[in-house]
This record gives sequence, structure tokens and C-alpha cells, in this order.
Amino acid sequence: SALTTSALVILGASGDLARRMLLPSLYNLDADGLLPAGLSIVGVARSDMDADAWRQEVRELLQAREPIDETVWARFAERLDYCAGDVTKPEGAACLKGRVDGRRPLVIFFSLSPSLYTAACASLKAGGVITDSTRLVLEKPIGRDLETSRSINAAVAAVADESNVFRIDHYLGKETVQNLIALRFANSLFEPLWTSQTIDHVQITVAETQAVGDRWPYYDDYGAIRDMLQNHMLQLLCLVAMEPPSDLEPDAVRNEKVKVLRSLRPFDRASAQHDSVRGQYGPGMVEGEKASSYEAEVGRPSQTETFVALTAHVDNWRWAGVPFFLRTGKRMPERRTEIVIQFKPVPHSIFGGAAQGDLVANRLVIELQPDEDISLTVMNKRPGLGDVRLQSMPLSLSLKSLGEDGGRRRIAYERLLLDALRGDQTLFVRRDEIEAAWAFVDGVADAWTEAGMTPKPYPAGSWGPAGAFALIERSGRAWND
Ligand code: BG6
Repeated sequence: SALTTSALVILGASGDLARRMLLPSLYNLDADGLLPAGLSIVGVARSDMDADAWRQEVRELLQAREPIDETVWARFAERLDYCAGDVTKPEGAACLKGRVDGRRPLVIFFSLSPSLYTAACASLKAGGVITDSTRLVLEKPIGRDLETSRSINAAVAAVADESNVFRIDHYLGKETVQNLIALRFANSLFEPLWTSQTIDHVQITVAETQAVGDRWPYYDDYGAIRDMLQNHMLQLLCLVAMEPPSDLEPDAVRNEKVKVLRSLRPFDRASAQHDSVRGQYGPGMVEGEKASSYEAEVGRPSQTETFVALTAHVDNWRWAGVPFFLRTGKRMPERRTEIVIQFKPVPHSIFGGAAQGDLVANRLVIELQPDEDISLTVMNKRPGLGDVRLQSMPLSLSLKSLGEDGGRRRIAYERLLLDALRGDQTLFVRRDEIEAAWAFVDGVADAWTEAGMTPKPYPAGSWGPAGAFALIERSGRAWND
């Protein structure tokens, strides 16, 4: 097949992402027989070593995760090649060209600091590595705001057509995120109810227990809104809110997502104060252990938020009047990522007495982490001969146990690497999408500056500053805790 002489290049092969995610994902794909025969995987980094030394490094990092299957390893090791050098320099590009010349398709994964993207693109183009058919896979962050994002996108556009640019948002590689599309568009049940007439509000929570730790030099310049909300959370919001695409062609889906992003109501000074909360963790206790403050990690005072909550409004026909409450933070009490679709209460209750108080409105909870589950609460009668009493119970798909692979949780990058090798852009972010997301986030950040809003402290191990509760409770609603 055309894939037989393909190559995947990993720029930044000794970096954290390559070691923690990319190489283990590729090994898993090879174990499942999903990598094209003849695919060569070329690592590029500055450490001076040969391919054998790199193979040894890769073997060790895989072994540190789980026991290696020698048959798979033999096949995988065969694919690995290494090129020592700096690809922003002509010698680095020349070395890489020697390794991949004539390989098609050629996929180059930028697992580098984004500050090097522009120089790397120019140098790889000049050195003849990037040709008209080369696919470029770009990790976040693509920019820190709309302007810097545009400038990276322009540098990339100068060397590659948009149809060859694959911007990663690893949340789109998560199984439950894709399941959201199946849930919405493979059932006749939900879509008629998926409107402001039936839905009261939507909540999206991405809570992490981990600290920022030694990633602070990056994080301190970005904060929660740029690190998590601009990308992962807005992508989840788009998948919940988008209109049915005509099919699953990449641009059909991405056209619908970009419309949602453009319908987000911009923030101003007043709405920022009313509809958003910034927080930063102080000392506290997380999962039974003493945890230090963010500023102690950074080693100096900081005005960066490690928590953000905001109310987003999607100003279009379907969602008018339905708030989307988003929150994300580091050092929360538990790791939990979920989307909650809260339906409206029944229009009129026929139940009197105690049963009246038992009534709760239906709620669809899509849990991404730690477990994968989709559950819908439904009211039913408590069994028994006494007065009628009602109870709310979940109809639940425990997706964990249903995987094709006997429950092994795939790394989100497995799906995304495979799609990049196949040339399928559906789960990658298009240029106009990422720029629309930045435009929204820039508006919030500017409003914070105008309103003089600095992060409020919250104890590590709590659900954020008090304002995060007020944000949702003042409209008579509550977080799904
Ligand atoms: C990354 C952020 O994009 O996503 C990290 O930079 C965050 O700060 C991570 O921890 C969360 O990913 P996941 O898959 O663990 O939810």
C-alpha cells in the first residue's frame, strides 16, 4: 500500500510528551497491529547519541510502564531511528532529510516548545524535509493569545496547506469525548430534547488533584484559562452545543464547532465580575497529604490563576437562555472530568405529600475521568405499599468494562497518532477554530485586567474560592458535587 514507506518524525524526542505519551502510544498501536508495515519512527533531539542508544532509552521508558512483549518490541525497535541535531539549523534539517527522504506519507510531530515552531518550519522547508504532502502535527499551546496564535499559524501556513496541518487537542482523542457524538447523533432520543426548551443548563468540570509543580515556568505565563479552558473545555462545550453536522467529514464537524465558538458572548468588565472567578491555591491538604501553595512552587508572588470558573452564553437559537457553567482547577479534592446536562423540572407536579419533595429533574452525566460512564437519572416509584414516594436512579452505561480490548484504557494520543498517519483531520483543530477560541479567551483576560480581578486564594484540596459557588448558586442552581 501507499503506507509502506511512511515515516513519523518526533521533534523533541527526549521531551516529556514524547516519553510519557507518544512513544508508549506508538508501542501500544504496534502491539495491536495497527501501525502500517514499514513505518519508520524517527526521533529528533539535541542529545548526541546514535539510533541504538535511543532504542535503549525507549526500551527503558516502556519497561518502566509495563513489562515488554519481546515480539512486539523486536518489531517496534526495528522502526526506530534517531537523528541528533537542532532542526532549526541547516545541519539538523539535513540530517533529518537523510533519514526520511522519499518517505510518503511523512508526518512530523512537533513535540517542541512552540517558541521554536516558526524557526523549525522555515528550516525544514528550506532543507527540503517539508514538501507539499508533508503532514505537520502541532501540540498546544499554539500561541498565548490571538495575536501570537495567528503568527504561529501564519508561519505554518507558509510551509503547509491547512489540509496537512493537524492541531492536537488531546481531549478529542478521549473515548468518551467521541462517544458524545455517538450519544447525540446515533440516538433519536436525545436530539429533540437538546434545546433551551428542555435543558436548564450545562456544567463542565475538569478537576485535577495534581499541582502545577515543576511545570510552573510554562504555567505561570498561561494560567488555567489558557492552559485548559481555551482548548479542552471549549472543545467539550462545542461538542455539546454544535448543530448536527451533515456527516463526519472533518470540515463538516469543524464548521459546526467554529459556529459555536463564534456564538460565545464576549465578556466585558461587568460580565467578568458577575460571570467569572479566578482562584489560586494556597497551602492545604490533598488526598490526605499536606500540599504547599502555588506561590511556594513558583518561589515568588504570582498573579496567575490555577482555577477558573465562568458562565458562558452561547448566543444562538438553540441555546438562548441556557447557561454553560465551566470550571477547572489544579489541587481540587478529586480528579473528575464530567459534563452535566441538567434538564428542566416537569412543568406541573401531580404528586402530593412527601412525593412532591422527592421530585428531582433529570440529569445526564457524561463522565470522562476517572471512569468513563454516561448516566441518565430517571425518577421512579419507590417499591412498597405505603404512600407513593419517588426516587431518582441512574440508567448507566459503565463503559469501562465494554472496550474492544477488554477494558484497557487507551491513551488519547493513540487515536490521534493513528488518525494523523491515516490523514483524517476530524479530531484535529482547524485554524479558524483555534483563533475563535483565542478571541473569546482574550476577551475574558482583557476584562479581568480592566476590572482589576486578581486570583482569589483557595486552600489546596478544596473546590476553589467561594465565588465559584456563588457564580452558580445565585441563579438557584448548584454544582454536581
Ligand atoms: C494539558 C494541560 O493540556 O492537559 C495540563 O497542559 C493538564 O495542565 C492536562 O494537566 C490534563 O489532561 P488529562 O488528560 O490528564 O485530563
